[in-house]
Amino acid sequence: MNVFLPLVVDQALAAAVRAPSPQNTQPWRFVVDGPRIEVWLDRDRVLPVADPAGREARLSCGAAVCNLMLTLRVNGVRSRVRIVPDAADRDLLAVVSIEGNIRPSTVDRKLAEAVFRRHTNRRPLSDRAVPVAARALLRSAALGEGGQLEFLDASGRYSQVSALIRRAETEQDTDPAFRAEAAKWTGRELDSPDGVPTAAFGPPADVPGVVSLRSAHENQSIPPRQFEQDPVLAAVLTRDQGTAAEVRGGMIMERVLLTATAEGLATSFLSQPFEARSTRAQLLEAFRGLGQVHTLLRIGYGLPTRLTARRPAAEVTTVRSAPVAPAL
Ligand SMILES: Cc1cc2nc3c(=O)[nH]c(=O)nc-3n(C[C@H](O)[C@H](O)[C@H](O)COP(=O)(O)O)c2cc1C
Repeated sequence: MNVFLPLVVDQALAAAVRAPSPQNTQPWRFVVDGPRIEVWLDRDRVLPVADPAGREARLSCGAAVCNLMLTLRVNGVRSRVRIVPDAADRDLLAVVSIEGNIRPSTVDRKLAEAVFRRHTNRRPLSDRAVPVAARALLRSAALGEGGQLEFLDASGRYSQVSALIRRAETEQDTDPAFRAEAAKWTGRELDSPDGVPTAAFGPPADVPGVVSLRSAHENQSIPPRQFEQDPVLAAVLTRDQGTAAEVRGGMIMERVLLTATAEGLATSFLSQPFEARSTRAQLLEAFRGLGQVHTLLRIGYGLPTRLTARRPAAEVTTVRSAPVAPAL
C-alpha cells in the first residue's frame, strides 16, 4: 500500500474542495477516520431561499466525492463509496473507504488534471458547434458514474426547458428574498475564500438570449455583449430519486464537467427553474420518463475565465484518526 497515504489523502481533499457549489457556498465537511473519509453536509451553508431542501448542496457534496475518489485513484489508491441512503443523521452523505491499490487509467489522469482548471464560465460562448464525438464522450462520462446526460436539442425538450429558465429568472429577479440572498454571496473580491467574485461574473447580454444567465452574476460595469444564439444545453439525470440520488447526481455532474474541461469545453449552470416555485414542478415533469433531473448545463467553446478561491481543505476537515490502509 501507498506509504505516502496521508499526503495522498491531503491531496484528495484539496481536490474535493475544488468542486462547484451554488454561489460557491462550499456546503461540505470531511472527517478522516483511518481508512474512511466521511463527507458531511454543512447545513449552515445551505442557501435557505434558493435551496431550502439542500438539494443543490447535496449535488455539490457529490461533486466533491467525485474529485476525492478520482485523486485517490490517480495516486494509486482504490476506494469505494457508500452513499448513505436517508440515514438517520441525514447530514452524513457518503463514506469513501480506502480499499487497496489500483493502476490509474489515462482517462483518470486527464480528468484529475482538469479538477484544478474546471470553472464556471458566465461569458458568451462562441457559436462553434460541440462535435458529435465530444457529445458522445460527455454522455459516456455520465454513464460511467451510473447516470445519464441528455442534450436538450436532441431530446426535443429545448424550447420547453429554455422557456422555464427564462420564466424562473424573471420570478427570482423580482423576489426580494432571493435577491438579498444572492447579493450576500456575490460581488466578492477575487481572493474571497467563498462566494462568487465579480471577476467571475459575465457581461450583461445586449439582446435577450434564448436563456438568461443570472442577473446577480452580471457585471454592469463592463459593456454588454451578444451571447450565443443557440446555446448547447444538457441535463444530468439519474434513474433513482431521493437524497442518495442527489449525491450520485453530483458525482455524475462533476465527471461530465471534468470531461468537458479536458476536451477544451467551457461550462456553466442554469439552476433557476429548479429554484423558482412556479417552474420546479414543470421542470421535473418535463423529464418524468427519463428519471430524476438534477442540473442543467450550458456547454460550448469560450475563452477561459477566472478561477474562484476556496476555503482550505484543512479548515473543513476533522481528523479523527490518521489515514491508514485497511489490513488486507
Ligand atoms: C448545484 C449547482 C448549481 C449552480 N447553479 C448556478 C447557476 O444557476 N448559475 C451560475 O452562474 N452558477 C451556478 N453554479 C456554479 C457556482 O456558482 C460555482 O460552482 C461556484 O461559484 C464556484 O465557482 P467555479 O465553478 O468557477 O469553481 C452552480 C453550481 C452548483 C454545484
